[in-house]
Amino acid sequence: MIRLRDLSKSYRMGSTTVRALDGVTLEVEAGEALAILGHSGSGKSTLLQLVGGLDTPTSGEVEVNHRIISSLSEDDLAEYRRVSVGFVFQDFYLQPHLDTVENVELPLKLNRVPRRERRERANVALQQVGLADRGTHRPKELSGGERQRVCIARAIVHGPSILLADEPTGNLDSGTSGEIVDLFLSLWREKAVTVLIVTHNSDVARRIGKSVSLRDGRIIDGGADAPE
Ligand SMILES: Nc1ncnc2c1ncn2[C@@H]1O[C@H](COP(=O)(O)OP(=O)(O)OP(=O)(O)O)[C@@H](O)[C@H]1O
Ligand SMILES: [Mg+2]
Repeated sequence: MIRLRDLSKSYRMGSTTVRALDGVTLEVEAGEALAILGHSGSGKSTLLQLVGGLDTPTSGEVEVNHRIISSLSEDDLAEYRRVSVGFVFQDFYLQPHLDTVENVELPLKLNRVPRRERRERANVALQQVGLADRGTHRPKELSGGERQRVCIARAIVHGPSILLADEPTGNLDSGTSGEIVDLFLSLWREKAVTVLIVTHNSDVARRIGKSVSLRDGRIIDGGADAPE
């Protein structure tokens, strides 16, 4: 499970301070899916980065599966990211010179999985996202929706306990974006993974079911303190 306690993140910019997150308290049960809504600049990406261990809070705590990850050492944090977290971003961040299956293998390489097992598991992940027949394509030889599927395969291939997606449908048309949301939901059901999806699309949030809304770094709707 994920527990955020009074979580804040401020950035100093010269003489001013930007409060990107301002006292967020939130609980997400293991195996739950949650959409994080809010206008641009409300703190959605900051929240995801803190949960994913890509950044550390200014104050407050991030607890994931009974570990306080906001106070881990750099090395332990890197291990947490490598083993427990899968990330999907709006911009795909695929390696252009690698083909599909090689891109999907990358997290396994980081986790020192032997070559042959790597290939097998990458192919299974590609099957799960419906791209078994695109393994030798390079990113530029894929459609936008297919690229995002590759990213999802790459995010699940190492069996993370949490899957974090930051505007995963932001660059896709509405039909393709519906398919991607469906894919997240089917993987979520199948793999008992905890899923957080940032979106400013309320249709996407509705399909996911449960949501919280942020404004100015605070939860204004659906958080731990709000009535159900
Ligand atoms: N590295 C940084 N340095 C300084 N300020 C930052 C940094 N990252 C984010 N901010 C500021 O923190 C606030 C929240 O940013 P964040 O990226 O979390 O918003 P968001 O909800 O993801 O917005 P969007 O929907 O546009 O992606 C913004 O005002 C932003 O300018
Ligand atoms: Mg963002």
